[in-house]
Order: sequence, then structure tokens, then C-alpha cells
Amino acid sequence: MLVSGREILQAARQGGYAVGAFNLNNMEIVQAIIEAAEEERSPVIIQASQGAIKYAGIEYIAGLAKIAAERVSVPVALNLDHGTSFSQVVQCIRNGFTAVMIDGSQLPFEENIAVVQKVVEVAHPNNVSVEAELGKIGGVEDDIVVSERDAAFTDPDEAAEFVERTQCDALAVAIGTAHGLYKGEPKLDFDRLREIRRKTDVPLVLHGASGVPDEAIAVARQYVSKINIDTELRVAFAKAIADFLKEHPNEIDPRKILGPAKAAMKDVVRAKMRLFGSAGKA
Ligand code: 13P
Repeated sequence: MLVSGREILQAARQGGYAVGAFNLNNMEIVQAIIEAAEEERSPVIIQASQGAIKYAGIEYIAGLAKIAAERVSVPVALNLDHGTSFSQVVQCIRNGFTAVMIDGSQLPFEENIAVVQKVVEVAHPNNVSVEAELGKIGGVEDDIVVSERDAAFTDPDEAAEFVERTQCDALAVAIGTAHGLYKGEPKLDFDRLREIRRKTDVPLVLHGASGVPDEAIAVARQYVSKINIDTELRVAFAKAIADFLKEHPNEIDPRKILGPAKAAMKDVVRAKMRLFGSAGKA
């Protein structure tokens, strides 16, 4: 069932668990995410990046997500991941997205506030929730590249002012995670996360959660309500296809080639739902 992002995030915040937000790019990924959610009785967020929209087209993305959501009884939200323009946000709302992220983290503080305010003004009357980002999360997320040098942690006092002035529904924080594959083990700044939690009342979002050790996620989930996973799905997808074709080099049926990839992604999603505490909450 397709619901507003706010509904899922507020329930998670009140229930003391985090909901996984998994990136979609094609039908098999959507099916893996949605079947995992139904089997785990977990709320779930499916989200589309700039790259996904460019690759599949916004109508396909929205269509796939809506069909999938209608087939299950657990709450599902469709989110724009790292939206970079106001016009794209409007396009997503028109296509039935129930949540949008507007990423103004590269902008100066006041300009970031201004763009989020503008998005909130159009999203809220449409029952669409708004995620914003303060601080700069490092790494590569499709077309968005932030070098280690440019990454900057979120300031708790600024976060309080930002949330108050923008009225955003969720805040992505930079506390040491990065998009993409990690070279070493990421070190998360939990003191900073606790301080942001203490100074704001909004559901918090952890980006770049692929490759973060389970023990660190178990701590983070006490403070954040949404956890983003993309890279671990990509790794499972690519590895399953590579393994399958190695064993069956003459197979040409796309359904047989993609089947194991879907199963591998589903296993990843189910494990994350249990780790985040959202399993059994729908
Ligand atoms: P990963 O690259 O760690 O999976 O992060 C995904 C993400 O944060 C999407 O916004």
C-alpha cells in the first residue's frame, strides 16, 4: 500500500526503529525489495536517484513502484533520492511520489534553507514529505560526487535552526558515512549524532549505510529513522549474475540470468530489515 513518507517516518520515530530506504533501477530490484518487505512484515521506502530516473525514465520508475506497492499490505513510500532541482521535485509529485529529498547540501546555509522552504511549500499540500540534507556526505551517488576533502560533518546547532526554519520532515546528517564502497572501516561520530538528536525533533536519516558494520548500525538505529542502502544491492546483483554466468556460460534466457540476482538482493533487504528493527512492524 503506497503511503506518505511522513507516515512511515513518524511511526519509526515513535516506535524506536529505522526503516530501510532501498534504491530501485529496474523491475527485479523493485520486486526484491517489495517481496522482502511483505515477507518480513516491514514498512519500506523505495527510492530513485538521479541516475535511476535518467536510466529508466520517471514514468517507468513511478509505475513500477506503484504496481509493487499496490500488491502488498505493508506500507510503502516512494522517495526521490538526492533531488537537485525544484522542477524535478514538482515532476515527482505529479508522478505520484510520496516523499522527496531536496539536496541543497552543496549550497551555502541560507540558500539551502531557501530551497527546502520552497519545496516544503509545494510538497506538504500534496501530502508529500520532504527530506533535506545538512553537512556534506562524501562518496559517489550516481552523478553526485563529493570528495573526502569536501565532505563536512553536520553541526548540531545549525541542524536545530535548519529544521525549525524549513519545517522539513526528515534530515539527512553527515556523521562519517559515505556513498559507495568503503576503502577502510567507516568511523561514525555517535556523539555528534546524539547531539543532533537532542537538539532536533525531526526523524534523522543515515545515508551511505552499505558496508557500515552491523554493530555500528545497531547503535545508529537508536537515533535515526531512515537508513539508505544502494551499494550492497548492486554488489549482490552483480555477483549473482557473474556467478550464474560462470556456471552456465551458454544461458541466454534473461529470466534465468536475473532470477538469482533478484533472490540475492532479497536476502540483503530482509537482513537489513531485521537489523534496522523494522521487521514485524507492519
Ligand atoms: P550506499 O552507497 O552506502 O548504499 O548509500 C546509499 C545512499 O545513501 C543513497 O542515498
